[in-house]
Amino acid sequence: MLQAQLTIDPAHRVAPVRRRTFGTFVEHLGRCVYTGIYEPGHPTADEEGFRGDVLALTRELGVTTVRYPGGNFVSGYRWEDGVGPRERRPRRLDLAWHSTETNEIGVDEFVRWTRLAGLEPMMAVNLGTRGVQESLDLLEYCNIPSGTALSDLRIANGAKEPHDIRMWCLGNEMDGPWQIGHKTAREYGRLAAETARAMRMVDPGLELVACGSSGSSMPTFGTWEATVLEETYDLVDHISCHAYYEEKEGDLGGFLACATDMEHFISTVVSTADQVGARLGSRKRINVSFDEWNVWYMSRFQSAPPPPDWPVAPPLLEDHYHLADAVALGSLIITLLRHSDRVAAACLAQLVNVIAPIMTEPGGRAWRQTTFHPFAQAARYAKGEVVRVEPACPSYETAEFGEVPVLHAVATHDGQDTTLFVVNRSVREPVELEIDARALGMGTDGGTHGGAVRITEATTLTHEDVYARNTADDPGRVTPRPNTDHRSDPLRIVLPPVSWNVIRLSKA
Ligand code: AHR
Repeated sequence: MLQAQLTIDPAHRVAPVRRRTFGTFVEHLGRCVYTGIYEPGHPTADEEGFRGDVLALTRELGVTTVRYPGGNFVSGYRWEDGVGPRERRPRRLDLAWHSTETNEIGVDEFVRWTRLAGLEPMMAVNLGTRGVQESLDLLEYCNIPSGTALSDLRIANGAKEPHDIRMWCLGNEMDGPWQIGHKTAREYGRLAAETARAMRMVDPGLELVACGSSGSSMPTFGTWEATVLEETYDLVDHISCHAYYEEKEGDLGGFLACATDMEHFISTVVSTADQVGARLGSRKRINVSFDEWNVWYMSRFQSAPPPPDWPVAPPLLEDHYHLADAVALGSLIITLLRHSDRVAAACLAQLVNVIAPIMTEPGGRAWRQTTFHPFAQAARYAKGEVVRVEPACPSYETAEFGEVPVLHAVATHDGQDTTLFVVNRSVREPVELEIDARALGMGTDGGTHGGAVRITEATTLTHEDVYARNTADDPGRVTPRPNTDHRSDPLRIVLPPVSWNVIRLSKA
């Protein structure tokens, strides 16, 4: 058994927990929308065709915001196709995913769904095949209360109240050669600036996100952000980051350390943004919108043959996650929380069926993937302030990231209650963790007579088979279970190998 120690001290405050850290993403891709959130005729569907089982799981997941409608899809999308009477909506080729888009769901239905789910919508505009005017039109349609052609059209389409969408993404992954309308950083930066300037003429209070890099291994990483921000610095609030990780053949230890890349990604983008700000003599700070992140076995998708025709809602990117994927994802959540001072929003990509925590059968069951659990627990228990913790623990060697610590952790502190989120990345060894929580027991005057601190609840997500998955027939195979292997004085808890752990503490 490995030994480790950490100290939790609320004085090591990073920033408040931002609720938008727990966003997700719904793209018109595969079965995310059709047979995902929407399936008229499904036994749980409401009168609008929204699946009740998916809505219930979305609420349980604790999602706060949801990005829409893409993704690569948005770069060829005409939003007008998705509004008005359904029988008049055109079917279109979706070039991004080689599918047919029926446009049964559009912005009005999507916003209604977010209201049912209790979520904030986050909208992306098409800066691939379109530009300033179409972005303004969509903004007018969504946010102007009434009295103009497009706001009155929304009302005529049944949406009396404005959608009041606050956060807008200026395109998607424009640095990627796969993107429809892919641009150089300078071309995109200028278009994003023009679009942002015009959108702010409609509403100066919008929160705008400029496209950053699609991954830290992009050849333009760094220079892309610098150039785009040179053009847009005063006009946007956030720069986006996107990152996907997968286990490379036989390198489980390296995969479990993938958050090392995310840490580096965030720090580099923040430094680049601050450097541009300094050069421009600006005191404004640009934050990060990590609006696509997940485990995604992209290599399997890329090596699969393309579909022969243009199917409607084909099963695409339907990764079935195992325990190790969930632990890696937990570590990515820890990273986002640790950077809450500059990561203003994040979206787990995606929500249903497409690299998603929720899976459905058309006409049938819905269930929680393994990755559902770390997200849901963090969304539920991360409250108050983020507190930095640095475990003193053994490390191990990885081919990709060099030496990495076996434990990765963060805490949150909300007055009386503290929650510690810890991943044990060791592939074989349990870790006995000693927690010095004396600072939590102090009285409000800073004195030491405040009382002892105890573990009120501890759960662990693990499995003897690191590749164990949940299925429709066995949906509870990998699920958090109580961890009773702990004691007090001093506080100690045993964390199994390859595990995600949630430890809740309060004054005795
Ligand atoms: O989430 C799947 C795809 O990944 C998105 O459409 C795109 O933005 C990214 O490359």
